[in-house]
Amino acid sequence: MSYLETAAQFYSEVAQTPQVGLCCVQSTPLQLPGLKIPRKMQEMNYGCGTTVHSTELGNQPTVLYVGVGGGLEALQFAYFSQRSGAVIAVDPVAEMRQAAVRNLEIAAQENPWFDTSFVEIREGDAFNLPVGDNSVDIVAQNCLFNIFEPEDLTRALQEAYRVLKPGGKLQMSDPIATRPIPQHLQKDERLRAMCLSGALTYEEYIQRIISAGFGQVEIRARRPYRLLDSQTYDIEENLLLESLDSVAFKVIIPEDGACVFTGKTAIYAGPEPFFDDDAGHILQRGIPASVCDKTAAKLAALMPDKIMMTDSTWYYNGGGCC
Ligand SMILES: C[S@@+](CC[C@H](N)C(=O)[O-])C[C@H]1O[C@@H](n2cnc3c(N)ncnc32)[C@H](O)[C@@H]1O
Repeated sequence: MSYLETAAQFYSEVAQTPQVGLCCVQSTPLQLPGLKIPRKMQEMNYGCGTTVHSTELGNQPTVLYVGVGGGLEALQFAYFSQRSGAVIAVDPVAEMRQAAVRNLEIAAQENPWFDTSFVEIREGDAFNLPVGDNSVDIVAQNCLFNIFEPEDLTRALQEAYRVLKPGGKLQMSDPIATRPIPQHLQKDERLRAMCLSGALTYEEYIQRIISAGFGQVEIRARRPYRLLDSQTYDIEENLLLESLDSVAFKVIIPEDGACVFTGKTAIYAGPEPFFDDDAGHILQRGIPASVCDKTAAKLAALMPDKIMMTDSTWYYNGGGCC
């Protein structure tokens, strides 16, 4: 059996017998006015963060959701679009698709605004998405791509890129590892399926996203996820896993490299009222300006005594204070 088959078998099991808290770090999912999440769906919250960024879902986007789980985030996305077929949710595991259908039927009984036609559940997998090129506004996946071995992760990212419209967004939440996960754990297919041993480091993960063609990546959240302790996992030192919420944009990669926003700001502290780097960044004296990590490094090297650089907040959604 391949590791992907092991994962499919595992998710067939947890579709039939929900495992509360399997991946999730948020005991209370995103609360929205008028949205009631059925208890069964909540018990099947197998995501490690959120891909539903509520302030960014105007204009009723078409969403392709990969790895439907119990349907929680598909329902949350449907809340923002509220039209037939707005969310297409894909899963290769029949038992998981059936569980999601059942949960969404309960959701329709509990939420007057929701119609089951808003979410269309299709058989398919991350490597072969059942939609055309350039056809959706958002691709979302939560706690699935970390299961994939690196080359498969690249295939899944490329497939997401294919189906997104130009300018479209890949919204992901995945565990990342604070140092490389030892081989014996990486090879443990069951741990991998449980989102405990396939995680890449932050740098490797972001590089794979960029290599698939995404020109801009924004980090929405980074938080502790799980601890692989030395005794249980037979490793020299405890290893912290974090969960990372990101949004990657299908835009051209600039000549000098992709832009990754992690919440850094640059603050000009020189004698002039403002500083213009002639590359599109104008810094007013004393006022923080959000910059991507590439620009932060360039500006810091250019004038270390006159431009202060703040640390990554790991919480970026456009910057600005008002
Ligand atoms: C960790 S669960 C996450 C479920 C959901 N995203 C959530 O947040 O609750 C992974 C999901 O991906 C599905 N899955 C497994 N292998 C897959 C594949 N190759 N392509 C797409 N989905 C897959 C599983 O059946 C399961 O529904």
